[in-house]
Amino acid sequence: MFEEGQYFAPVHEKDDGTLSVQLGANHPGLNDPEYRARRDHLATLAARWQPGDPCPTADYTDAEHDVWRVVSDVLMESHRTYACSEFLEGKEILGLPTDHIPQLSEVSQTLAPLTGFGYQPAAGLVPLRAFYGALADRRFWSTQYVRHHSVPLYTPEPDVIHEVIGHGNTLAHPRFTALYELAGAAARRVETDDALEFVSKVFWFTLEFGVLWQRGDLRAYGAGILSSPGEIQEFRDVTIRPLDLVSMGTANYDITAYQDVLYAAESFTHVEDVVGHFWATCTDESIARMAHMAVR
Ligand code: TRP
Ligand code: FE
Repeated sequence: MFEEGQYFAPVHEKDDGTLSVQLGANHPGLNDPEYRARRDHLATLAARWQPGDPCPTADYTDAEHDVWRVVSDVLMESHRTYACSEFLEGKEILGLPTDHIPQLSEVSQTLAPLTGFGYQPAAGLVPLRAFYGALADRRFWSTQYVRHHSVPLYTPEPDVIHEVIGHGNTLAHPRFTALYELAGAAARRVETDDALEFVSKVFWFTLEFGVLWQRGDLRAYGAGILSSPGEIQEFRDVTIRPLDLVSMGTANYDITAYQDVLYAAESFTHVEDVVGHFWATCTDESIARMAHMAVR
């Protein structure tokens, strides 16, 4: 995902109508003109997309396909060891290619009969409310570019590998998509920015960075862990707290580094019961009461 309050590269329109993506001072692709040209090109394609259109075709280069291959290979093994069973079921059904980057339009076509979810291309920042709100319509805003080849293990900037390998495999499973839809409905229901932020933080610590116990083993179900060959090796060694809405909804986190605190559910059903129920029922008032309970 690609949203406000998260790491994202600002995008500017140039005189010729194409977009220019501004990379941060320590971005690994900053001084790589080829990479910059690819980023600008893909942002421009996304900006021309209209609601209802299929996602534009990104003519990926061999070097980009290589990054996907490397990450897919490493994750193949890691997922077996560290992913929860619902993710592995989604992955089995979706059957993503490992030798080339699939188009967002193709993955959307495969997802449609499974769960009704589909991607929409993001050229740049998608405001929080628009990003989450779209989930209620089973639309998932997605980046299309690939992380720089020098940082295959982890990127603080969501890329197509995160969107498709991390989120896509979950978007193929109805138990996951029920949760995404509830998060979307919650984002549309609440009116205050404080309540929306609380909803998005719960999303962060669950569908992005959630872990759960399965047969005595700590497994990941969050897309941010499941798309990072680096972070997936480390999540068992950080501080693990029990699932707690007030704590998740009010915590601060660093978006540029491996998470140092994660929240573990007792099971997938526990996520549905606690987090699903929260998103299904929360209001501005109920969230204000919860935020008030937070120990500061
Ligand atoms: N770190 C993730 C990876 O390497 C991608 C990512 C960047 C991400 N920003 C994120 C994931 C925010 C979840 C939330 O694959
Ligand atoms: Fe994400």
